[in-house]
Amino acid sequence: MNIFLSPSLLSADFTRVGEQLSLLEEAGVPYLHLDVMDGIFVPNISFGMPVIQSIRKASKMVFDVHLMITEPERYAEEFAKAGADIVNFHAEAAKDPAAVLAKIKKTGAKAGITIKPGTPVETIKPYLPDVDMVLVMTVEPGFAGQKFMPEQVEKIRRLAEWKKELGFTYDIEVDGGVTLENVRTSLDAGANIIVAGSAVLGKADIAGAAGKFLEIFKEYE
Ligand code: DX5
Ligand code: ZN
Repeated sequence: MNIFLSPSLLSADFTRVGEQLSLLEEAGVPYLHLDVMDGIFVPNISFGMPVIQSIRKASKMVFDVHLMITEPERYAEEFAKAGADIVNFHAEAAKDPAAVLAKIKKTGAKAGITIKPGTPVETIKPYLPDVDMVLVMTVEPGFAGQKFMPEQVEKIRRLAEWKKELGFTYDIEVDGGVTLENVRTSLDAGANIIVAGSAVLGKADIAGAAGKFLEIFKEYE
């Protein structure tokens, strides 16, 4: 199984973003996780399309956009146009998740569905045949630097089981509070895209921190 690190831009130093993304690319990190918050779906506001469009020029990484916004159907196309390769939206935020998935896919971007800690994984089962990615939140969305919620790992396990039993092809991404110390818990359960904010771009030695994650991933090759 291919395992990828997707560092969250939220923990970057925004005065040095281009430089920090180059460090990641040189360290062999293929994905960048971009957290979009609207201050309504979550109690925080981050950045939107113009910032993504600008950063797109500085990086060839796969842009894995995590929309924490209400009514994601209103903006799905614009995020794809701004440079998202993958558009993830919250199942809780969409009136008709199937329609949002279809809208994202029409743009040519990959489509992902995301669940908060309080949302049972069964809720999204009907959409699994049509998703490229499922994102399991292991903190309440809104802020970097929170503590990993180990009880959420059972959702990763269920998703991995369904994938195997029912022949689905989605990636399983884990997001929130992931560290070098706890990442194996998610990998053992079947996650293959690992988001890390504080544990990578939040560190003084970004390339070194990323490299340590990649070393652990090798154990799962
Ligand atoms: C939280 C975001 C996460 C967060 C990850 O709402 O979705 O992507 O930035 O940061 P850490 O790894 O520090 O929890
Ligand atoms: Zn995120």
